[in-house]
Amino acid sequence: MERLVLDPTGRNRDAETAELFERGPATPIDLLGVRAWAVADPELLEELLKDPRVSKDGLQHWPDFAEAVPTWPLAIWVAARNMFTAHGAEHRRLRRLVGTAFSVRRINAMTEQVEQLTGTLLDGLAATPPGTPVDLREHLAYRLPIQVIARLLGLPDSLTDSFRTTVDRVFDTTRTAEEAVANLTTFYGMLDELIATKRREPADDMTSLLIAARDTGDEEDGADGSDGSGKADGSGKADGTAGASALTEEELRDTLLLVVSAGYETTVNLIDNAIAALLTHPEQLALVRAGKVGWGDVVEEALRRDAPVAHLPLRFAVEDIELPGGVVLRKGDPILASYAAAGRHPVRYGEDGAVFDVTRPVKDHLAFGHGPHFCLGAPLARLEGATALRMLFERFPDLALAPDAELRPVESLISNGHRELPVLLDG
Ligand code: HEM
Repeated sequence: MERLVLDPTGRNRDAETAELFERGPATPIDLLGVRAWAVADPELLEELLKDPRVSKDGLQHWPDFAEAVPTWPLAIWVAARNMFTAHGAEHRRLRRLVGTAFSVRRINAMTEQVEQLTGTLLDGLAATPPGTPVDLREHLAYRLPIQVIARLLGLPDSLTDSFRTTVDRVFDTTRTAEEAVANLTTFYGMLDELIATKRREPADDMTSLLIAARDTGDEEDGADGSDGSGKADGSGKADGTAGASALTEEELRDTLLLVVSAGYETTVNLIDNAIAALLTHPEQLALVRAGKVGWGDVVEEALRRDAPVAHLPLRFAVEDIELPGGVVLRKGDPILASYAAAGRHPVRYGEDGAVFDVTRPVKDHLAFGHGPHFCLGAPLARLEGATALRMLFERFPDLALAPDAELRPVESLISNGHRELPVLLDG
């Protein structure tokens, strides 16, 4: 069977999803020139996501890493050095550091602010002249998560817009490798500026906590950097210098890159997709309004039906892995987690997996991943999603899609949302 070539524009997602179902649990694909296996069957995907024989560390487990990285537009998804691309003990070390910074106290403090931020955004929208279409992706779905992550990380106002453009470009899979490299250079320049600012003026935010961990080794339960570092010199530091630091300068920068990117793009799609689904399924919205289901159910159903991260690059087989049915993933083979297809797969959701149904009995999904890399921001994303939806629909009971609204997909095979979401606030 011919290898399935994934469309970088994301325009063919439904047809590709149907192909992935048709072709079996693991499908040979071409991912912008890289040969990989797409896994869309949620049962198999769940197994592989927690299988220690599957790694996200391409540097160690992808034989083509050095050759692919300079010319592959998606290189950053495997080349950044943070928890996202780490495996085993190394992953636990890097995740624990950010987990500490995501402490319950910090997230609770954000929780209190989410309603306030949403309220202010809705006040702004309420000033729209009657009958004027408003793009809710731009004016709500983007703004809330960006403001939340900006507070969490302590981003200066001067950087929040440029981060937005840069993160958009990381998720835009139609860009060339040269454009991706240029964008990354800009991104790193901004992260260096952020780190320098916070080193000079530390504050009560996650960036300052990570810098403290880097500069003083100030970590709650101590780092296991020496044996888990994976660095050839055993120092645990990218620059090779000795010291008690819990993370290297490169890891510090790439961890910020990860949290900024995750915080800027994914929740945007959740809010956008959930609003679009409710506005195109008024009978479902009526169930929520009647109190028969909660806003949390809407969030889960939107995550299931339209996973904000459609495909997640990449994982690698650490050794040969034989799948049920006899297919063998060879050592070093790249694996793509196809979360959007998994969320609609007939093996778990029957034949109506593409239908938006807030009352469906099986609501569980893999939109936040599974296993050791399960999304660290899931509670925050759920909170933002439920708050934004509840307050929006309460404030604008006649909300409707703009009459000529065209819901075009974001140009990405990773990011799953709409380019714009034009609505009329007063119906
Ligand atoms: C990991 C989805 C929001 C931070 C992940 C993964 C997925 C995901 C699928 C696992 C990747 C894998 O397969 O390995 C989402 C979705 C979100 C969301 C759908 C919103 C609806 C957030 C937010 C943050 C965040 C708001 C931070 C503020 C992270 C981090 C990881 C991660 C740090 C890496 C975890 C690890 O590798 O151990 N996310 N995410 N995410 N997410 Fe999220």
